Amino acid sequence: MNVVKVGLLGLGTVGGGTVNVIKKNANEIARRTGCKVVVTKACARDISRPRICNTDDVELTTNPNDVINDPDIQIVLELMGGDEPAKSLILSAISQGKHVVTANKALIANHGNELFAAAADNNVTLAYEAAIAGGIPIVKAMREGLSANKIEWLAGIINGTGNFILTEMRDKGSAFADVLKEAQELGYAEADPEYDVEGIDAAHKLCILASLAFGMPLNFKKVYTEGISKITPLDVTYAEELGYRIKHLGVARKSDKGVEMRVHPTLIPETRLIANVDGVMNAVVVKGNAVGPTLYYGPGAGAEATASAVIADVVDICRQMSQSAENSVPSLGFLSDELQELAILPIEEIVTAYYLRLSVKDKPGVMAAITTVLANNGISIEAVLQKEPKHGSNAQIILLTDNVLESSLLSALKEIESLDSINEPAIRIRVESLQ
Ligand code: NDP
Ligand code: HSE
Repeated sequence: MNVVKVGLLGLGTVGGGTVNVIKKNANEIARRTGCKVVVTKACARDISRPRICNTDDVELTTNPNDVINDPDIQIVLELMGGDEPAKSLILSAISQGKHVVTANKALIANHGNELFAAAADNNVTLAYEAAIAGGIPIVKAMREGLSANKIEWLAGIINGTGNFILTEMRDKGSAFADVLKEAQELGYAEADPEYDVEGIDAAHKLCILASLAFGMPLNFKKVYTEGISKITPLDVTYAEELGYRIKHLGVARKSDKGVEMRVHPTLIPETRLIANVDGVMNAVVVKGNAVGPTLYYGPGAGAEATASAVIADVVDICRQMSQSAENSVPSLGFLSDELQELAILPIEEIVTAYYLRLSVKDKPGVMAAITTVLANNGISIEAVLQKEPKHGSNAQIILLTDNVLESSLLSALKEIESLDSINEPAIRIRVESLQ
């Protein structure tokens, strides 16, 4: 049987999980590829550290060049994360004619255009299934399974750590910092957990999904990004009273005006399947113009779940190695000379419904003043809740608006926040019906 030698850059959560799954499922992988896939070398910063995998038959090194310059290694798995040295190492492996698999969404979102071009120039594959939504085969679904469709929009819970934190806060009333610590211990969080909490990791993934959906170059700097750090248990409770769940959602939509790319906390009706995606699980809804809405669900982070996606790419490469290069699937699913530069809409031009929570002085006429400002700005109200002040605090007015242009909402809020009866800046969270 043909032996395919694989080298790992990084032997942490994903690298360790990958070694374990390659060993555990060696027979299945051989039955699918006709190849025996073996990890021969792996690099880490400190090779004396205990690992989650058995490394008895893997040569360990602290020098990544030992892996990429090994002439016997045909496929390099970049599972170290970060910008550099990962980028230079990938380019060097590609220039030596090696195929590369990466789980590094930050790198693909920021440098994918350059990296894919280098892979095409050298006639090798740069695969990245594990970079988005952990174990869910969403890249394959979008590049291949949905290739008959024009994609209209997609929306996803695409950060496992963030969803885990929101779920634990809601179900157990746990404190934000405690749940984040647990997510780190479980290997879900990024090296810098701010990436998870402030939405940067989800923005990396959304940028890649938008390019896969609409056939445009990667454009990370244009993704509007808000994280989950400002969500309070109070808003989670009020949203539930109104029949909604708060989820951290990435949304990409194409219209005649341009492309929306945005990541932010969002109220979703509790009856939608995606509103019930909890814990570390991720889900992506993709609406194609032929198939309609489709939903992809699975674990968004974790050692073996992510390894599943890494190894699926290795299997694809093993299969391709026995075929001609022109049979391979383009990196973003569209021929590279067919990628289109599309206008990305600024957040002020986006239309969504809104959840608003206003902290107000408990006196007559407040509600009337607020609704007058909203009406003057052409904003309709869908639902209202009013909560009496507790222990000397302010009364709370919670409003659900109809769809409104972001810039109109911002001017209305400016007026509302200048009213004498309003004590604090409004809390505002976008609402998506996802239909
Ligand atoms: P870890 O921190 O667990 O592992 C990183 C590994 O890379 C470690 O073994 C580390 O060595 C090694 N490493 C880092 N920098 C260097 C360097 N300069 N030279 C040599 N070795 C280095 O990270 P994860 O496994 O969690 O993540 C890896 C990648 O996968 C990231 O891009 C991440 O975004 C992505 N990802 C992670 C998922 C997850 O669930 N964790 C899911 C999907 C994608 P040492 O062990 O000695 O510190
Ligand atoms: N930190 C990421 C998450 C890992 O929690 O989703 C998977 O990409």
